[in-house]
Amino acid sequence: MAFQNQTMKANTSFVLILFFAVQYTASTNVFHFVIEETSFDRLCQSKKILTVNGQFPGPTIYALAGETLSLDVENRGKDNVTMFWRVGRHVKSDQVEWLVEAGAAVRKNITISEDDEGTLWWHAMNIWQRATVHGAFIVHPEPDDHVDIPIILGEWWKKDVKEVFVDYIDSGSDVKSNAYTINGQPGDFYPCSKNGTFRIVVDTGKKYLLRIVNAAIHKKLYLGIASHNLTVIAMDGSPIIEPLSTPFVELTRQHSIDCIFEANQQPNYYYYMVASTNISEAYDTNKITTAIIEYQGSYKPSLPPLLPLLPNLSPNYDKSSSRDYLYVILTFVILGLFFCTTFIMWPQSVLQEKEAKQSKEVVNGVEHAMEEAVNLQEQNNTELSNDELYRMGMIPTTKANKS
Ligand SMILES: *[C@@H]1O[C@H](CO)[C@@H](O)[C@H](O)[C@H]1NC(C)=O
Ligand SMILES: *[C@@H]1O[C@H](CO)[C@@H](O)[C@H](O)[C@H]1NC(C)=O
Ligand SMILES: *[C@@H]1O[C@H](CO)[C@@H](O)[C@H](O)[C@H]1NC(C)=O
Ligand SMILES: *[C@@H]1O[C@H](CO)[C@@H](O)[C@H](O)[C@H]1NC(C)=O
Ligand SMILES: *[C@@H]1O[C@H](CO)[C@@H](O)[C@H](O)[C@H]1NC(C)=O
Repeated sequence: MAFQNQTMKANTSFVLILFFAVQYTASTNVFHFVIEETSFDRLCQSKKILTVNGQFPGPTIYALAGETLSLDVENRGKDNVTMFWRVGRHVKSDQVEWLVEAGAAVRKNITISEDDEGTLWWHAMNIWQRATVHGAFIVHPEPDDHVDIPIILGEWWKKDVKEVFVDYIDSGSDVKSNAYTINGQPGDFYPCSKNGTFRIVVDTGKKYLLRIVNAAIHKKLYLGIASHNLTVIAMDGSPIIEPLSTPFVELTRQHSIDCIFEANQQPNYYYYMVASTNISEAYDTNKITTAIIEYQGSYKPSLPPLLPLLPNLSPNYDKSSSRDYLYVILTFVILGLFFCTTFIMWPQSVLQEKEAKQSKEVVNGVEHAMEEAVNLQEQNNTELSNDELYRMGMIPTTKANKS
């Protein structure tokens, strides 16, 4: 309740109010999740995706450290869904998964540990369900006055996501998405997308806390805001002792970063927030996903800036900031090692699902192989060809059977 009041008070933007309003359940710590198919219009097409409460990305869960939440999940979809809650940074004890069978409901309590703080996330376990069934899990140490803005980075496929992955099994075709998204929106430079571009309306001099989660299936993503530095204060639910300032942050898959930006620039423009897979392409409007930081009051819609103000992500931009950047990477390496234990948990659950159904077995195996492949891909920072996947035994039985 405290958060609800605070959010309502602090929000200066109608858009923000809209974005948050649906995410709080009235006055209790019970969260109702309904998994169901919902129709969305993106990239000039309409299609149904699996969602929680009809939202893409799904609702944000807010909790206080030490609080017990009651999570109530109803599955109105056609498939079983295993929900995965990354509720704390203690990798093993704080990751909970539940099978919610099609047509059934599960209600369970989760207790957040006392020393948790920052942004985590929840998602469906299965890779194509996870593409759209995910959301932020934000733990506050105590009630505070920050204006939280969840920024969920995701992907959009024009095709049915499940089909994409089935096709991948059948033909080895690409699973590449048609657009990356910021809070479900590809942004101004994609067709039929301008109306929906996510906007943050800010007041000059105020600070805003971005709760960024990379929920994209495949890629690490870079995020920055034109002319505004980001001060990173936490990663993966762990506060950073010495916050660092950087023009952009790098988020590997499944990771989260909390950072603050101050609305301290000339208010007579709007500024783009850019998400990109490649720093060198952050100026290429054919390739970037955008949201808008709009200064309250002074911006006149009839006079849009001629050119977007993109974050200066060019590697030559500022050598001093690349030190910070290196530090971010190093921290990630350390966090990466820490989270390696996570991956050990995955095969087990995949195995459980295998037992559930013969036909799903193949799919799950490939799914797991894909996870592995993507992990390897990230480690090596290279694309893997199907031949390489074969050679590594990543897609052995299925592909062999089909071809
Ligand atoms: C869902 O899971 C249950 C229990 O594991 C299994 O019996 C059932 O066949 C599954 N249903 C579907 C649609 O996969
Ligand atoms: C969850 O917690 C509430 C109160 O804290 C309790 O009444 C309820 O029985 C608990 N539910 C489960 C499934 O443990
Ligand atoms: C965008 O919004 C305008 C005004 O509300 C509307 O006329 C137009 O059809 C919308 N475009 C799309 C692609 O939804
Ligand atoms: C961002 O930080 C760099 C150095 O870290 C500094 O030179 C620059 O002025 C800062 N930019 C803004 C807009 O604060
Ligand atoms: C990033 O973009 C640059 C410029 O377009 C390109 O030369 C480079 O190969 C790209 N890197 C990756 C990893 O795609």
